Amino acid sequence: MTRLSATLFVPMNKRFYITTAIDYVNGQPHLGHAYEKIVADVIARSRRSLGQDAFFLTGLDEHGQKVQQAAQAEGKTPQAYCDKLAADWQAFVKKLELTNDDFVRTTDPRHKAIVQAALAKVFQAGQIYKQTYEGFYSTKEETFLTNKDRLPDGTFDPSYGEVIELKEENYFFKLGEQQAWLIDYLEKNPSFVQPDYRRNEVLGFLKNNELEDLCISRPAARLNWGIPLPFDKDFVTYVWFDALVNYISIPAAHGDATVLSALNPQPSTPINSDESRAGREQALNPQLSLWPADIHVVGKDIVKFHAVFWPIMLKAMGLPLPKQILVHGWWQKDGGKISKSTGNIVDPIAVIDEWGLDAFRFYVLRELDIGPDGNWTDAGFKSRYQAELANGLGNLVNRSLSMLKRYRNGVVPAKHDELAAAAAKAADETRALFEQNQLQAALQSIWGLVTRANQYVDQTKPFKLAKDPAQAKRLDEVLYNLTETCRVLAVLLWPFLPGTAVKIYAQLGLTGTPDKFDAATWGSLPAGHKIGEPAPLFPRKDER
Ligand code: MSP
Repeated sequence: MTRLSATLFVPMNKRFYITTAIDYVNGQPHLGHAYEKIVADVIARSRRSLGQDAFFLTGLDEHGQKVQQAAQAEGKTPQAYCDKLAADWQAFVKKLELTNDDFVRTTDPRHKAIVQAALAKVFQAGQIYKQTYEGFYSTKEETFLTNKDRLPDGTFDPSYGEVIELKEENYFFKLGEQQAWLIDYLEKNPSFVQPDYRRNEVLGFLKNNELEDLCISRPAARLNWGIPLPFDKDFVTYVWFDALVNYISIPAAHGDATVLSALNPQPSTPINSDESRAGREQALNPQLSLWPADIHVVGKDIVKFHAVFWPIMLKAMGLPLPKQILVHGWWQKDGGKISKSTGNIVDPIAVIDEWGLDAFRFYVLRELDIGPDGNWTDAGFKSRYQAELANGLGNLVNRSLSMLKRYRNGVVPAKHDELAAAAAKAADETRALFEQNQLQAALQSIWGLVTRANQYVDQTKPFKLAKDPAQAKRLDEVLYNLTETCRVLAVLLWPFLPGTAVKIYAQLGLTGTPDKFDAATWGSLPAGHKIGEPAPLFPRKDER
């Protein structure tokens, strides 16, 4: 019965799999980290709303010299140091109300096992070799430097800190022979790196540079806070063969047949940590099919690792490539680099505590499209809060529901279709934009409906109609259109502003969560339905 294993390996329904970069544990989360996670969360939620079964992964990159040194400086073991910070980052994920299905830490045994299996496979395939390196080394950046990195005066950029001369044996991953197929792949698959200009940057880099083999180890004598190489215990693997592998180690931990059959890890591979939501899910659903990832969301600084090194690593492992690297830009504050040392920071937790989570989620996605760099200003934030959230959406919902309450005792009148076309247009556009991960454009389209409905109030003047008994039918029509528009808005907004969407539903007297896009169809609110209590969604600061 050798065919039995083949039956076991039939992948179950492949899930839409989206990841963020995993963050270094060398500090507290800032605006840039928050943004990337919110982008991925909104994509995951929007896909689920559209009926796709999305799996969303985020987590932490915990190994390396900086962590080892920071732990030493605090008199802690690296593990204790990471555990303390990991708790803060996990609390941050909750604060952002991310719907991640798992949270990876590169110190998880389940991750380490797959890193070792991946290294073993690539080593057996003859793609890793040992060589003595003699040259320059930046201890600050933990990186080898060559003459090409020298400035015209022969020195190195001060960002490298102290540069020493070093002679040491290490393991290298062969990249050199891989350039041609990757260029070909990028040319044939325009959606592999998005937006287009980021893809062109990668192509330009590949066409104008020769790839040098990648150093993937550090001697354990110098750095022991890492995962030992399975074929040489005197070395640990370094950075990218550890960090990037998180994207497949978690699928493997969930029983992904594609990864498991390619890497064939030791049967002792530990599975989920108990805290993870997926840990609970796993008990019910022992074999998820996740790989290849549909989207890796990453910042522009790590495109090369994701669009060049990672595909080559995957090919060497015998695994398919992810479908897309979605590259976002970097946030600045007040036109300057975000930096703890200069104090030019945005503390997402403080903003959320002051203004609410949905206001923060809204601002970062409405202000910055996925791709270019963005600039946070407190004035810009307040202005969008006031104009688009409080006076736009908040005012629409509050006055619509308050009028229904006042003039019709909160009872929904007969269906009427005056705003149906505007609502259908926003829904159709939003659906198409969700499918293309165009989050900023989707918000613009949704706000087109908010503006249209606010204009409708100004044009139809329900407060005047209410004074004239002969206009009762007209008032019914207007109130239906407004109330139903609020309901449709809740559905369209749910991926972006989940808390607000749920509040709108509750104020409409509807139970459940507006998390299914199909519910955006016009006319679902039945005549005779009694709404709940209206309350301001985005109160002025002094009313909070
Ligand atoms: N640990 C690596 C990634 C490994 S992925 C297998 C790393 N970590 S990081 O903490 O430095 O960055 C994590 C993510 O945050 C990256 O995608 C990075 O681009 C993003 N950002 C860090 N600062 C940022 C801004 N100022 N603005 C937007 N995103 C930024 O790199």
